[in-house]
Amino acid sequence: MCGIVGYTGFQQAGPILLEGLKRLEYRGYDSAGIAVINDKRQILISKVTGRIANLCERTQDGSSCPGNAGIGHTRWATHGAPTDTNAHPHVSNNGRFAVVHNGIIENYLSLRKELVANGYHFESETDTEVVAHLIDMYYDGDIKKAVIRTLSRLRGSYALGVICQEQPEKLYVAREASPLILGVGVGENYFASDVTALVSYTRNAIYLEDGEFAEITPDSITVYDCSGHPVQKKVTRITWDIQAAEKGGYEHFMLKEIMEQPAAVKATIAPRIKDGEIVLDDIELTGEYLGSIDKIVITACGSAYYAGCAGKYAIEKICRIPVQVELASELRYSDPIIDERTLLIVLSQSGETADTIAAMKECKRRGAKTIAIVNVVGSTIAKEADHTIYTWAGPEIAVATTKGYTTQLAVLYMFSLYAAKKLGRIGEEDYLSLLKKLKSLPKQIQEAIDMNSSIDRMAKKYYNNSSIFYIGRNTDYAIALEGALKMKEISYIHAESYAAGELKHGTIALISDNQPVIALCCNQSVMEKTMSNIVEVKARGAKVVAVTFRENEKIVSLADDVIFVPNVETLFSAIVEIIPLQLLAYYVARENGCDIDKPKNLAKSVTVE
Ligand code: F6R
Repeated sequence: MCGIVGYTGFQQAGPILLEGLKRLEYRGYDSAGIAVINDKRQILISKVTGRIANLCERTQDGSSCPGNAGIGHTRWATHGAPTDTNAHPHVSNNGRFAVVHNGIIENYLSLRKELVANGYHFESETDTEVVAHLIDMYYDGDIKKAVIRTLSRLRGSYALGVICQEQPEKLYVAREASPLILGVGVGENYFASDVTALVSYTRNAIYLEDGEFAEITPDSITVYDCSGHPVQKKVTRITWDIQAAEKGGYEHFMLKEIMEQPAAVKATIAPRIKDGEIVLDDIELTGEYLGSIDKIVITACGSAYYAGCAGKYAIEKICRIPVQVELASELRYSDPIIDERTLLIVLSQSGETADTIAAMKECKRRGAKTIAIVNVVGSTIAKEADHTIYTWAGPEIAVATTKGYTTQLAVLYMFSLYAAKKLGRIGEEDYLSLLKKLKSLPKQIQEAIDMNSSIDRMAKKYYNNSSIFYIGRNTDYAIALEGALKMKEISYIHAESYAAGELKHGTIALISDNQPVIALCCNQSVMEKTMSNIVEVKARGAKVVAVTFRENEKIVSLADDVIFVPNVETLFSAIVEIIPLQLLAYYVARENGCDIDKPKNLAKSVTVE
């Protein structure tokens, strides 16, 4: 999704903007641009379709745009094709203002009409260009006033960065439903839509809230509410370091992040186990409250939704509370049956997914208490939920989530034990036994990585297929869903997941000679059933790859290939079983020469609907 950066200070802005944009590349984009004000008070613009590398080449690493203040943007096309003209920054007709924008201005068509009637002409097809012209239309020498009037006209979501020829040291930024962080320096200040663009310059950040805007100079940052009254903000220390957002010798961020999972899961679980008990300081739920709810609804998008699907089994089994898992994009429009007797759990790595935010708001409006499980500190979902449990996975840069997903699962497992204990629905012995198993998950994830160190060879066997099926039952089915998503999003191979028992209701028609079927077989309670499904697909010519434990000899002898994982408690097996599927997807994509960290058409943080 789009990214924005800005700088004002004693250094040359161009190289800093380009460096910031490089840090945002992982979010996905199709064009990029910068605008810098030079010492003649001219706004110099450079925009290109394609990679930041092209922009660096075009601007000679920023040196062709000299000046000490500027703004930059990576665009992920929504309104208008990815072209140089549609790329940001956009400029007012007289060249006075330049604007970068993340989000969508929903009422841009009516604003465009109005501006055309007032003599403005449009260069691009974007919604953003209206902002540049509106500020100019309202400008009478007072930028702050023009910004306030402009913001009052905009509907939709935005993180905006604005520069003006007439005040060459100043940056204006505004936020509504799209992340925006201000970086505090000494004699220089920054802004960005993502902390990863700031951490190499400063660790001190101010998080803007919806409806706020700020005036930034090299020596000051003043934040205002939407009426222009100053707002006191606190400076937050960013704890992520730059190494965590670099590849550290790995060929891709995705591989690095797969390998980081034992540590990420440990960082998520270990500090929350104190004196033989799960302590979730971040939330305050009493047994009485938990006993009073009718159900838990989990909502999320993509992999986070699949983490919810896997977590449901653990919560239902241990707590005996009904759990409904809903796609946020569906839930928000479904007139859901949700009230104060519903506990809503929202899962989001980025904390900025537009559909998830909207679903959460809708459920809150209907009275649900909300718990967010989020990775990015200070993100919208983290701020708006009643309670937030952070996943402590560190920055996840690859578009395809890995450690984000497994740490979400870790929190759901912890939550299930925490809630069962509060409810008095688990005996002490079972609790301690599951707690022990929970604690050993980081080690078992490491074992799963080690056991599959040669999965790249298996990838060489399967990379050339046009489709792959994933089947499983119960917890294994939840993993099939995420395994198939990993494969399709990074390798572009059609990958479908099916509840194994559903095959014979239609999908088995697609099974023919040499069709790869990945059969997830770690759940003992349904093992025999899944085995029958393996026999069925094999009888129709499928090549079966089983994912199972070494001890499952019958399955091993049935399958054409086997991927082994350590023998894990069934309730928690998803977190371990997914590891080889992430690795398989990674190596298949690598064999196919795909852009693994930045798959086509995808964005890391989906901040538009
Ligand atoms: C897939 C993937 C996406 C995200 C989804 C939700 O690998 O990363 O499906 O899981 O876009 O994102 P968050 O968790 O940031 O809300």
